[in-house]
Amino acid sequence: MSLHRLASLTIGVPEPEPVRAFYREFGLAETEPGRFDTADGGEQLRIERAPRRRLLALTVGVDDADDLGRSGAALAQLGVAAERSGNTLRVREPLTDVVVTLAIQPRLAQKATAPLPTNGPGRSVRVDARSAAAVAPTEKPRPRKLSHVVTTSTDPVASRRFFVEGLGFRVSDEVPAFGASFLRCSTDHPNVLLQPGPFAFLHHTAWEMDDVDAVGRAAAAMVAADPARHAWGLGRHAIGSNYFWYLRDPAGNFAEYTSDLDVIVDAEAWMVASAVPADGLAAWGPPVPRSFLAPDDIMALARGEG
Ligand SMILES: [Fe+2]
Repeated sequence: MSLHRLASLTIGVPEPEPVRAFYREFGLAETEPGRFDTADGGEQLRIERAPRRRLLALTVGVDDADDLGRSGAALAQLGVAAERSGNTLRVREPLTDVVVTLAIQPRLAQKATAPLPTNGPGRSVRVDARSAAAVAPTEKPRPRKLSHVVTTSTDPVASRRFFVEGLGFRVSDEVPAFGASFLRCSTDHPNVLLQPGPFAFLHHTAWEMDDVDAVGRAAAAMVAADPARHAWGLGRHAIGSNYFWYLRDPAGNFAEYTSDLDVIVDAEAWMVASAVPADGLAAWGPPVPRSFLAPDDIMALARGEG
């Protein structure tokens, strides 16, 4: 695969300051006003001012100039013009209006953290010791990297064609009954999830944590500081297998702490599922709130506000 990472994204919001404060508290490091680093991934988020909240741009890492050339030619076949400049290829996705930049970048190598020693029936790994790392951690958990982004499209089939046939994303899973496609530009199960919607809006961004304890601790701290931030969690998704806990940022975007997402290295070994999972959105977790499926500000967004 020539695409190798979801490098960064840019979110537009009407009032950036409270949103910037939220993502600082979320665990991202603000290096300059509106620019945020993850622990492993470098600069992965920009917050900019925009008339309403929306996903403005994505950057995808690729290996070399041949990759840019291939995507440029494939996009031209779809009738979409892309702009080549130096080490990048820039193109606007026609349905969502998101600007996607393919950029030649080194691959991300994350340092592995040792798994927590955990006990189970017939499997005592941690003996004569408390689980200090889980129950008495010394450091606040930080997102290791950007995991995925979810946007609606008024024509998710056409948007999928743009990402898959044009840019070179792979399909990890799909739910045709809902018009949803889980797409990847790395080995992570989804990097981009397309869903149908009456208009294009950013549903959520997701940030990779070390493990479920880090998901729980980080989200619980955010909710303790402001209970109104809680959106949905803790749970485990049926598609992607990842743990999740969703919060709502001050602009209305959902932000997910996640861990243990499916990783696809050999596309031939992975069976793409094309059915509604029996467990629905979550293998387990609290009932999905209606406001998660249709955000509270959806009518205001439809009017071009907020
Ligand atoms: Fe997610």
